[in-house]
Amino acid sequence: MGRALRGRGGPPAEAATLSDILAGHASDAELLAEIYDLEHDEIDEDLAFYREWARRSPGSVIDLGCGSGRLFEPLLAGGATRIVGVDGSPSLLERASARVESHASLREAHGRGRIELTVGDVRRVRRTDRFALAILAGVLSHLDGPEDALRALSAARGLLEPDGTLIVDVLGPGGLPPHDLPLSLDWERAMGDRRVVRRSRLERRETPEGLRVSYATLTDVVRADGTIARLPASFRLWYPTAAALVALAGEAELAVVAVYGSHDLEGLDDDSERCIVVARPKAVLPETE
Ligand SMILES: C[S@@+](CC[C@H](N)C(=O)[O-])C[C@H]1O[C@@H](n2cnc3c(N)ncnc32)[C@H](O)[C@@H]1O
Repeated sequence: MGRALRGRGGPPAEAATLSDILAGHASDAELLAEIYDLEHDEIDEDLAFYREWARRSPGSVIDLGCGSGRLFEPLLAGGATRIVGVDGSPSLLERASARVESHASLREAHGRGRIELTVGDVRRVRRTDRFALAILAGVLSHLDGPEDALRALSAARGLLEPDGTLIVDVLGPGGLPPHDLPLSLDWERAMGDRRVVRRSRLERRETPEGLRVSYATLTDVVRADGTIARLPASFRLWYPTAAALVALAGEAELAVVAVYGSHDLEGLDDDSERCIVVARPKAVLPETE
């Protein structure tokens, strides 16, 4: 899979349905969620990074846009006392729930009330509890640009303990698609006794706040008997620049404490595959007379 195609799904036209990335697809949401896992479960290069941040941030963690719960195990292994997973897609949360049930450590933590899954929109999530660590991994690109990103960052800030940490993780400049792509074979994989063939086309548009990419994908699920379920989809992703992210964090009353270009904590440069911003709530200054 091309890294640029790592994030899938995308914003349907209506803001009200934007939080469910599978909602704009006229096809079977459960099948799409299964294909989502086929595509995402192989990504493991960031797991040690998230385990380490859970270790550095003792307490509870909120995974905003948790998808099917890929990060839950490393977060628990890092010592998270509680994990709240929020996502806009009920189908992906069902898969997260199945993941929790099928992993002994997650199942046990869930049984003790230490894992909670909830459908929600990261731009609007409000809770009464507070978290030592909030994560937005691969999520901001699915939002419709800076205004929505600011809403999500402000909402995340409101969820943090005063000394809590927010991690925002998006593709870096070196991971972005370098040019438009005509409809091309993207990847082909086995899924049980079926084969999945993904074709993708993309169009880029540079903007001051980052790269906007329109994707059209055609996913064929070839069953053992040779019949094909064809799932067409089109969506847009937004890849903010580091400067745009840092500015938005400031607007959301967050102080940026580090910017990394990889999950190995390398500095960010033009070749960096990731852009990871670590931020904390700005201190509230005492009122002066
Ligand atoms: C690329 S996936 C990343 C999933 C997970 N964070 C990970 O790293 O494996 C993006 C996720 O963001 C979710 N998402 C996108 N927009 C959202 C919104 N407005 N509110 C809640 N979830 C959203 C999608 O449903 C999807 O699960």
